[in-house]
Amino acid sequence: QRLEAAKAVVLPAVDGGKKIKIRSAIGSRDQQVRVSGWVHRLRSQKGLIFIILRDGTGYLQVVLGGDCAKTYDALTLTLESTIEVVGTIKALPEGKSAPDNHELAADWWRCIGKAPGGDEAFLNRVAEGTEMSKLADSRHLVIRGETASSVLKVRAAVLRAFRAEFDALGLLEVTPPCMVQTQVEGGSTLFKFDYYGQEAYLTQSSQLYLETCLPSLGDVFCVQESFRAEKSHTRRHLSEYTHLEAELGFLTFEDLLAHLEQIICGTLERVLADPASASMIKQLNPDFAFPSRPFRRMDYKEAIKWLNEHSILTDEGKEHVVGDDIAEAAERRMTDALNVPIFLTGFPREIKSFYMKRVPGDEHFTESVDVLMPGVGEIVGGSMRMSDPDELLQAYKNEGIDAKPYHWYTDQRKYGTCEHGGYGLGVERFLAWLTNRYTVREASLYPRWTGRCTP
Ligand code: 4AD
Repeated sequence: QRLEAAKAVVLPAVDGGKKIKIRSAIGSRDQQVRVSGWVHRLRSQKGLIFIILRDGTGYLQVVLGGDCAKTYDALTLTLESTIEVVGTIKALPEGKSAPDNHELAADWWRCIGKAPGGDEAFLNRVAEGTEMSKLADSRHLVIRGETASSVLKVRAAVLRAFRAEFDALGLLEVTPPCMVQTQVEGGSTLFKFDYYGQEAYLTQSSQLYLETCLPSLGDVFCVQESFRAEKSHTRRHLSEYTHLEAELGFLTFEDLLAHLEQIICGTLERVLADPASASMIKQLNPDFAFPSRPFRRMDYKEAIKWLNEHSILTDEGKEHVVGDDIAEAAERRMTDALNVPIFLTGFPREIKSFYMKRVPGDEHFTESVDVLMPGVGEIVGGSMRMSDPDELLQAYKNEGIDAKPYHWYTDQRKYGTCEHGGYGLGVERFLAWLTNRYTVREASLYPRWTGRCTP
């Protein structure tokens, strides 16, 4: 009956109201505004309907009172419906709380698209505690939540800050191809596809292309998707991830480490200087500790010793020996125990890629570095590169790689070689560390992992 009566309530249209996004609500107080968005939260109390409206740029409390609260749409409103509201934003009196301490008192409103209620209601679709695969199927709805959307906003801020820091350090952005015919990080994780009848791959890393840019563009970086057909189901492996890579010329290994410290800390300073990002990081990761410089340095051999001294075994339950790849679990335990960023350097040749420069005088090891962060482990892999063409040709041979398709990479050494080095940073791993996410999947818009390529 009440609903039937409500159908007769018609709100007289209001023409005015400056169209705003919620991000500019503070500057638009005490004037008539027009705001559109999604119903994020909803409750009614004493004839008033309180809505937290969300438009992606922020949250705004809207109050429907009088006739505005009596329409059929008002009585049947559901979460995630879209609405348009005209009214005035007023500061809240002491003792009340709402986002930005103000609220929009509606003069008029309308429902644009009503979301379903009942079994199909939004909250039922993304209920907490839902198993991982259902949550993944509903990723398009999950990202509307406060936590998921904050992570994505921090992600945007981090990418913006990296670009600004690279710019300040004089590196130029380039955009290498995704479709390639060379491998960088071993054949076992290549995604192959048919390229007009030829075998081609989705890129694992843009490193080789970045190296070729040094003579024409100077130091360069890129933000490119990398693809790895990972068989491992872990918290930190994706099949597609955003790879931030840089390459620098005429530098030493020490210069490379100093640059890495600067790019990481400089980027973090920029992100935290933005109050909105700083507040989201505080929410997501209240215990975040800004890395202190210099980062702790640990040579690979020292790490093997440390693991054995602390009874951290290999995946096979054995003591570590020099030559072993340090598995994810062991690496994570060591990083968590030390609880500071670590430069793990000097890996043995046989567990690293073909292009890495050898340590002068200790040729069995490489001038390589992984940056390890507490909670995640490796977020960066980098190294100095071989600068001598003959040494590189021998390295292809050792790996059983046909040198022919790499002619352009070899030429980099033939036509004016230089000492150079670079690195790749996994953006999702960096974010998992910064925002304290359990898995890198939460740091990706639509994550891809073994068997998951949708939505
Ligand atoms: O250590 P990786 O394999 O190094 C390279 O690809 C070099 N060619 C980069 C370079 O020197 N330009 O990968 C670099 C980083 C890792 O430290 C990790 O953060 C990330 O890329 N990464 C992944 N992130 C998510 N899912 C995966 N499957 C990843 N594989 C690597």
